[in-house]
Amino acid sequence: MLVVVKDNFEEVSIEAAKLFASLVRRKPDCVLGFATGSTPLGMYKELIRLHKEEGLDFSKVITFNLDEYVGLPPSHEQSYHHFMWENLFKHINVDPRHVHVPMGMAENIDEFCLWYEEKIEECGGIDLQILGIGANGHIAFNEPGSSLGSRTRIKTLSTQTCEDNARFFENKDEVPTYAITMGVGTIMQAHELLLLASGAAKADAIRATVEGPVMAKYPATIVQLHEFATVVVDTDAASKLEGDYSGF
Ligand code: F6R
Repeated sequence: MLVVVKDNFEEVSIEAAKLFASLVRRKPDCVLGFATGSTPLGMYKELIRLHKEEGLDFSKVITFNLDEYVGLPPSHEQSYHHFMWENLFKHINVDPRHVHVPMGMAENIDEFCLWYEEKIEECGGIDLQILGIGANGHIAFNEPGSSLGSRTRIKTLSTQTCEDNARFFENKDEVPTYAITMGVGTIMQAHELLLLASGAAKADAIRATVEGPVMAKYPATIVQLHEFATVVVDTDAASKLEGDYSGF
């Protein structure tokens, strides 16, 4: 696992965008794994700039997102579909037919999850998967205790997550209690992983992920076992690391 420490969020974002852009240039029909949340926003902004100013071409790229709330239509402002279109897809030349975000409105969720796994495989697997990390060590919606071999499936959101999300919804009844998420095992099958973190609130999770034992209590720790994993963090997120990662 390569650990890269940058000065701030902006530098983390630019470094991450560089890795994505170099893959897209090298392999125009690559398969990219995307995430939502605040962490990848800077990277998405930089990818949009590279597309607009340097002609970075996404027309052949295929994308898969990590997760989506169950019960929210793609048009819902809080859906991850909406997030991805607003923050990235509508600003670049990705082919909408190549975009895959789990369908929170699927009639048969178990069947959909199987289909999602098969589709990833049919496309040759994910070349590069971006990951954010929860302060509790979650990746995607794989909360502490998730099986480290898990596949795409429906998960019940923790009470904490539901409470945290409530502020985004006008009506409490609207707050989703379930999500579809790629499993930890699904994520580990990506050819390359890029985990980003910024801010002191992530420092404990990053310490566990980089230097702690691999355990389901911190699903993100599994990235230690991936052959090609890069962790890019800012100095605040790196502040509890004991090792010296200044060489990169
Ligand atoms: C979202 C996702 C989540 C986030 C994580 C960190 O698709 O996979 O696991 O990456 O909750 O969220 P932020 O980036 O908002 O701190």
